[in-house]
Amino acid sequence: MQYLVTGGAGFIGSHIVDALLAKGHSVRAIDNLSTGLEPNLKAALKNPKFEFFKKDLYSEGEACIPHFKGVDVVIHMAANADVRFGTDHPRRDLEQNTIVTWQILEAMRLNGVKQIAFASTGSIYGEPEVFPTPENAPFPTQTSLYGASKLAAEGMISAYCHGFEMRSCIYRFVSCLGPRYSHGHVIDFVRQLKKHPEYLDVLGDGNQRKSYMHVMDCVNGVLLGLERATERVNVFNLGVDGSCTVRESIGWICETLGVKPELRFTGGKRGWIGDSPMIHLDVKKIEGLGHRPEHGILASVVDTVKFLIANEWMLE
Ligand SMILES: NC(=O)c1ccc[n+]([C@@H]2O[C@H](COP(=O)([O-])OP(=O)(O)OC[C@H]3O[C@@H](n4cnc5c(N)ncnc54)[C@H](O)[C@@H]3O)[C@@H](O)[C@H]2O)c1
Repeated sequence: MQYLVTGGAGFIGSHIVDALLAKGHSVRAIDNLSTGLEPNLKAALKNPKFEFFKKDLYSEGEACIPHFKGVDVVIHMAANADVRFGTDHPRRDLEQNTIVTWQILEAMRLNGVKQIAFASTGSIYGEPEVFPTPENAPFPTQTSLYGASKLAAEGMISAYCHGFEMRSCIYRFVSCLGPRYSHGHVIDFVRQLKKHPEYLDVLGDGNQRKSYMHVMDCVNGVLLGLERATERVNVFNLGVDGSCTVRESIGWICETLGVKPELRFTGGKRGWIGDSPMIHLDVKKIEGLGHRPEHGILASVVDTVKFLIANEWMLE
């Protein structure tokens, strides 16, 4: 099969590229390398079944259209993936997440591509009242521009599927951890602790509860859903059945680094505007297809810290 992975040089996208190549598929990747890294594609670039196009899916949308020719499945990972700072750049999530998704759907329509997998997010649930939160939770109130832009993209995908006989798998990820991890609280904390092991500044009161999944479990879930989902539009929460507090994850990070910092909390229930104080998704639906995460939250945090210690250049 011919796959096209947008954001293929990114943290999750590059693992998807590697997994598809390992299964013998042909893979194209489009990435503007804004947050993606070429070293993530080191192995893929040696594979004759891999093609890489350094292009911007927003500003060079038209120029990207020919790359969709002959593609069986698009795996759309490109985005502004950071939920923070949305209010500092009010256009960015709309452009990079919603409009880029629409441009990709158009490129698919023009080239007769019929299947798409999309990286959505647990952030679309805003501050839900039901835990674990199922896919059909009461229609969520949006609290971040990132979540709103992803939910709008989900709607666009659904409308294209119904309008142009496409099929989709929409995955609402919890936060991912593991090798090639490049953004989020674990790297922020490790970066700080390398600079000043005697103290750690923490956003919020540290009692926020979050859920984390290992990137390999994420990749397996994405590919499994594509293989087994049967509806025209399939929406899946993708994560592990559990959560931990920010304080617990700090304990694991500090233990792995061998440091005992003073914790300095900024206070308040949320780390930033749009931060969700509690994320715990109901993952029974994807588990019903056979998905079984192999890594627990603690193992994923420790694996990530070890990766960052071994790749200190990521902290610069
Ligand atoms: N990492 C997580 O914890 C997490 C959680 C929920 C959802 N997601 C979603 O999963 C996807 C992948 O996230 P990630 O963590 O790998 O992030 P990432 O930043 O590592 O990957 C995104 C990739 O897209 C590329 N990109 C961004 N804008 C582009 C554009 N206009 N044109 C071409 N390429 C562009 C970047 O260079 C990068 O390689 C994103 O859609 C993100 O919103 C991630």
